[in-house]
Amino acid sequence: MQRLIGQRVLLGVTGSIAAYKTPALVRGLVAAGADVQVVLSAAAKRFVAPMALAAVSGHAVRDDLWDENAELNMGHIELARWADVLLIAPASADVLARLATGQADDLLTTIALATTAPVIVAPAMNHVMWAHPATEANMDTLIARGLTCIGPDVGALAERETGAGRMSEPTTIVAALEQQIAERETPDQPEPLAGRRVLITAGPTREALDPVRYLTNHSSGRMGYALAAAAAAAGAEVVLVSGATALAVPEGVARIDVESAADMHAAVMAEIATADVFIGAAAVADYRPADVAAHKIKKSEGDAEIRLVRTRDIIADVSERYPQVFTLGFAAETTNMEAAARDKRTRKGLSMIAGNVVGPNDAFGREDNALFVVDAAGERYYERDSKTALAKRLVAELAQRLAERHTASI
Ligand code: PMT
Repeated sequence: MQRLIGQRVLLGVTGSIAAYKTPALVRGLVAAGADVQVVLSAAAKRFVAPMALAAVSGHAVRDDLWDENAELNMGHIELARWADVLLIAPASADVLARLATGQADDLLTTIALATTAPVIVAPAMNHVMWAHPATEANMDTLIARGLTCIGPDVGALAERETGAGRMSEPTTIVAALEQQIAERETPDQPEPLAGRRVLITAGPTREALDPVRYLTNHSSGRMGYALAAAAAAAGAEVVLVSGATALAVPEGVARIDVESAADMHAAVMAEIATADVFIGAAAVADYRPADVAAHKIKKSEGDAEIRLVRTRDIIADVSERYPQVFTLGFAAETTNMEAAARDKRTRKGLSMIAGNVVGPNDAFGREDNALFVVDAAGERYYERDSKTALAKRLVAELAQRLAERHTASI
């Protein structure tokens, strides 16, 4: 099993020629199931293009403690809390010294002080710098505080010298991280959804008006993808029916791509018969244009009107036709969220519902969310947290409900 599924890795990149390997490192981490965000030091930007790291991680790269826009989106303290692990690779002699003395004069060192996540470094520097008593003393201090070190390897260095100081290869770093996470987890930890099949919808639907235009919404798919990763990590066989998103398929998850609400309905109905759980996290259009023009609609003098007709309700159909399936729906509301969530759970016959407030700055597209959860056991709030953490909590709860159902039926 891939040990990085659902792990949030904050990668700090500092000034070393080895920074050119970090796009490959990010790809390796993502392929192993991790959600990766990157913070660059000022010197790192001389060795690797932020755009390359943004493209492979799927997140904007952070490099400035004083960037107001980036801070509004996810502040440095939020970023420090977001991380399950802070990996600094390559770690220059300079950053090791600054970590050892607890400095916080740039974004990366501030996060390193503010995080409670384990810190792992993969040093890279000239072999004389690595062997210097100052660097040795800094490493001793950091290791005594619980930081772990991967490498450095012995080999050819940038200055055409040979010695200890090469950053470990990306594949070695990913494997070492997987190993450390495996060791942190309880051995033989039970997988609460082992043997269960979980079908999840995520992302937006697109309802065509003509060959070039469609109606859609702001869903990024993050909530549904986080649920898919959490269910896979809990041992389930997971099928994700996804509207258009820019997200990578979580490791161990099978994805079916769809466009419209009708496509999503058909894909779900084709997969549901053998599912134990259905999670409707997609923002499915309630209406679609009544007619889809065969050719691009031409501009004319007057105004135009679009007649909309209802789409079929996927989750309501699942709960009606497959009452044995455990159904978790979402309620996306701009007002009276709690009342609407209770009402939707009853009306659609759902086992559980998670209400969330949506809007330009809420839920859609964000890394975090806050939920109001209702099921037969009662109502509770999940305080604002990352979608990854909320998904793990929801999956743990639904696994418990399934186990209770099973116990009640024997
Ligand atoms: O994707 P993100 O950017 O991470 O944002 C997450 C989210 C806000 C999209 C997610 O948390 C969420 O709320 N998803 C449900 C959005 C929605 O369509 O809510 P609703 O209240 O309109 O629908 C209620 C439930 O019925 C949902 O489970 C929905 O998937 C389902 N539904 C709705 C219409 C329809 N035709 N078929 C359905 O199955």
